[in-house]
Amino acid sequence: MIQKAQFVISNTNPGNCPKPDRAEVAFIGRSNVGKSSLINRITGKSDLAKTSQKPGKTQLINHFMINDRWYLVDLPGYGFAKVNVKVKQGWESMISTYLTKRENLCGVFVLIDSRLEPQKIDLEFLLWCGTEGVPAALVFTKADKQSKTKTDQNIRKFLKKTQEIFEEIPDYFITSAENGQGKEELTAFIEELVQEYESGEII
Ligand code: GTP
Ligand code: MG
Repeated sequence: MIQKAQFVISNTNPGNCPKPDRAEVAFIGRSNVGKSSLINRITGKSDLAKTSQKPGKTQLINHFMINDRWYLVDLPGYGFAKVNVKVKQGWESMISTYLTKRENLCGVFVLIDSRLEPQKIDLEFLLWCGTEGVPAALVFTKADKQSKTKTDQNIRKFLKKTQEIFEEIPDYFITSAENGQGKEELTAFIEELVQEYESGEII
């Protein structure tokens, strides 16, 4: 359970992130998929991470300290078309450096919009995670926006696509930042990762 959540620092340079002295998990996904909103929902602090209706809100690597014990990281979204090429390349290299070099990173949650059919950009990103050995799990967002039938249909299709990338279906969660669906399951899973990391099971 998350009892305490505090903002620590924002960075553009992965090298300036806090000392990697504790477990860390990060949220990533397309711009506007709901990363910051879900962080606010699972921490119970509605204004912890900045959210916006306009894509491209989060532009930095944002560290939050949870329960004085582990870091939760909010990242900028990928696939945001409305920035110039230089800015885009800057973000991409910042994110890829962070994801591949951050030594205490024990889980990366790739957020997927549950309203949509499988998107190429998400599948490409997952493929990249697979080749780089980035430990990815899936979080389907905005489940409140359509019927459960539609959500399940989209998720089934997406998972089928992931089988072309991974041998096993990745861990996945169905969530809504609006009504809190999936919050307990996701938090419990993160806490398990943190415990495993602390007990040295993940190297
Ligand atoms: P960037 O920082 O721009 O990459 O976006 P983000 O992924 O952090 O998205 P953000 O949390 O800012 O949310 C984008 C928009 O989607 C906001 O208008 C949110 O209110 C809305 N939103 C996020 N999650 C949900 C959800 O679960 N349900 C509904 N109905 N709306 C959501
Ligand atoms: Mg954001």
